[in-house]
Amino acid sequence: ARLVVLVSGAGTNLQALLDACADPSYGARVVAVGADRDDIEGLARAERAGVPTFVKKVGQFSSRESWDRAMAETVAGFEPDLVVSAGFMKLAGEHFLARFGGRYVNTHPALLPSFPGMHGAADALDYGVRVTGATLFIVDAGVDTGPILAQTVVAVEDDDTVESLHERIKGAEREMLVDAVGRMSREGFRIEGRKVRYGAPVH
Ligand code: GRF
Repeated sequence: ARLVVLVSGAGTNLQALLDACADPSYGARVVAVGADRDDIEGLARAERAGVPTFVKKVGQFSSRESWDRAMAETVAGFEPDLVVSAGFMKLAGEHFLARFGGRYVNTHPALLPSFPGMHGAADALDYGVRVTGATLFIVDAGVDTGPILAQTVVAVEDDDTVESLHERIKGAEREMLVDAVGRMSREGFRIEGRKVRYGAPVH
C-alpha cells in the first residue's frame, strides 16, 4: 500500500513507519510526507529516508478552505491508499475528507472517546485516570470521533508528569500504529458503520 504521512512535529510516529517499511514484507511504503510548517524534525526524518516532502502552511492561503483544497490535491497527486496523520495538528476540511474519507487515519494519545482534542495526555493526568493509552481511528468530520481501528493501554504512574506520561504513551502508540497500518496494508479493510473489517483489498 502507498502511504502519505502528515506531520507537524518530532515525527517519531513517522520514523516508526519508515523503519517498518524498510522490510518489504511489511506491505507498505511511505511515498510522501506532508507538513503544515517547516523546520520540523518530521520533515528532516523524511528527507533522510529519501522520501519526497511538501509543506502547506495555512497562512500561505487566502482561506482555510483553499488550504484544505490544496492539501487534498497535493496528497492525491501521490495516489495514496492510506493517509496517516501522525501528530499532524490540523483538522481536515471537507475537500480532504471528500477525497480521503474512510482511508484517512489519525493517532491520538488517549483512549477515545475519553480525552479528545489537543491535550490527550494532560487531560487524562488532570482527570486522575489510572489507565490511558492511544487510539488509531478513521478521521471523520468531528474532532477525534471516527470509527476506532486500534487501541493500546498505558498505566498512569503516581509520579507521572505530562511529559513522562506522554512519552510512555508515544512508545505504545508507535507500536500500535505500525501494527495496525501493516495489517490494513497487507489484508485490506473496509469500514462498516463504526467497525473495521479486514480482508478487502486496499486498491
Ligand atoms: C503523538 O502522541 C500524537 O498522537 C500526538 O502528537 C504526538 C506526535 O508525536 N497528537 P510525533 O511527532 O510522532 O513524535
